[in-house]
Amino acid sequence: MLERTVRVNASKSYDVIISKGILDRAGEHIKAVKKGLSSAVIVSDDNVFPLYGERLKRTLNDNCISSLEFVVPHGEKSKDIAVFAELLEFLATNKVNKGSVLIALGGGVVGDLTGFAAASYLRGIEFIQIPTTLLAAVDSSVGGKTAVNLKAGKNLAGAFWQPSLVLCDPETFETLSFEELANGISESVKYGVICDRDFFDDIEKNGFESDIEKKIELCVSIKRDIVEADEFDKGKRKLLNLGHTFGHAIEKCSDFTISHGAAVAIGMVAAARASEKLGLAEEKCSDRITALLTSLKLPTSCPYSVESLFDAALSDKKVEDKSISLILIRKIGDSIIYDVPLKELKNIFEKAFS
Ligand SMILES: NC(=O)c1ccc[n+]([C@@H]2O[C@H](COP(=O)([O-])OP(=O)(O)OC[C@H]3O[C@@H](n4cnc5c(N)ncnc54)[C@H](O)[C@@H]3O)[C@@H](O)[C@H]2O)c1
Repeated sequence: MLERTVRVNASKSYDVIISKGILDRAGEHIKAVKKGLSSAVIVSDDNVFPLYGERLKRTLNDNCISSLEFVVPHGEKSKDIAVFAELLEFLATNKVNKGSVLIALGGGVVGDLTGFAAASYLRGIEFIQIPTTLLAAVDSSVGGKTAVNLKAGKNLAGAFWQPSLVLCDPETFETLSFEELANGISESVKYGVICDRDFFDDIEKNGFESDIEKKIELCVSIKRDIVEADEFDKGKRKLLNLGHTFGHAIEKCSDFTISHGAAVAIGMVAAARASEKLGLAEEKCSDRITALLTSLKLPTSCPYSVESLFDAALSDKKVEDKSISLILIRKIGDSIIYDVPLKELKNIFEKAFS
C-alpha cells in the first residue's frame, strides 16, 4: 500500500504519513517511533470513537500496547478549560507517566485539546495525531499549535508542542458530513491563495475530490515549509492566518455556529476585497476566490454588521499592543503580512465587508 511521508523538522522532527487504511496499521507505526511502548491514552470524541476507536485499540493491542480512552462530547464546546482540566485529572488518576503517549483520534478540537494536555501534563508527554477530518489532516494536526478556548475568545490558552507522529487515513473522511469536508477544503484553498498558484489553478480546473492523498501531501508540505521557517509564529507563519482575523470574528459573532473552515472561506474573500480596495492587490482576485469557493459549496458572505464583526475581532488574541497583523493578498499565490495600527482596523473591516 502506498504511504506518502512528509518529514517535519521543527523543534522536534517527526513524520506525517498519509495512507488509506493506515488506521489499522497505527500500532506498528507508533511502536516504531516509541520503542518499548506498552500503554497509551486515546483521546477522542463521541462521534469519532464509536466509528474508529475499536480499530485503533485493536492495532495497539496487536502491538502489545494497552490503552485507556477519554471520550469528550463532539464539537468546539469540548475545547474548553474545564474539559482540559478533566483530562489532566484523568491522566493523573490513572497514573499515566512519561513512558506513555496520548493519541488524539479526531478532528481539530480533539487534536488541539490533546496536544495542550500533552504539553502540560508532567511538563510534557509525547502525543500522536490521528486526524479524522480533512481540516485536521491538512492543517491542525501538523505544526504543534495546541490550545483551548476561554470565554473571552478562541485559543487563548495553549502551547507550542509538536506531535511525535501524525498518521492520516483518508478513508476516515468517508464518514464526514459534506459540511465538515468543506471545512478542510477551505483550508486547502487557503494554501493555494497564500503561496501556490498552481495548486489554486488545479483545484479550479479539476475540483478537490480527485487524488485527495496527493492534495493532502501537498498541503502538509506547504505547512511544513512554513512551520520550519517560523515555528513560533514570529513572522512567516502568520501567513497561515489568511482569512482568520475576519474568520474568528465571524465565528464569534455566530456563537460558533459557523464552522472554522466556513468562516475562513468568508474571511479569505474579505481579505481579498480589502486588499483590492487598499490598492495592494496586483490583480482582481476576490471574484476568482469567490467563484472557486462557491463551486466548492463554501460560503463567501455573512449576515453580521461591520460594527459587530469589528468588536468581535478586538477580543481576538492576535490583537497585540496597538497593531494587528492582517494577511492580505497581492495576487493568488502571493499573500503578505500587513501590520495595521488598531485605529485603522475599523476602516479595513469596512472595506472588507461592504
Ligand atoms: N492547531 C492548529 O494549528 C489549528 C489549525 C486550524 C484549526 N484548528 C482548530 O481546529 C478546530 C476545528 O477542527 P475540525 O474542523 O476538525 O472540528 P472538529 O474536531 O469539531 O470535528 C468536526 C466534527 O466532525 C466530527 N468528526 C470528526 N471526524 C469524523 C469522521 N471521520 N467521521 C465522522 N465525523 C467526524 C466531529 O465529531 C465533529 O462533530 C477548531 O477548534 C480550530 O480552532 C487548529
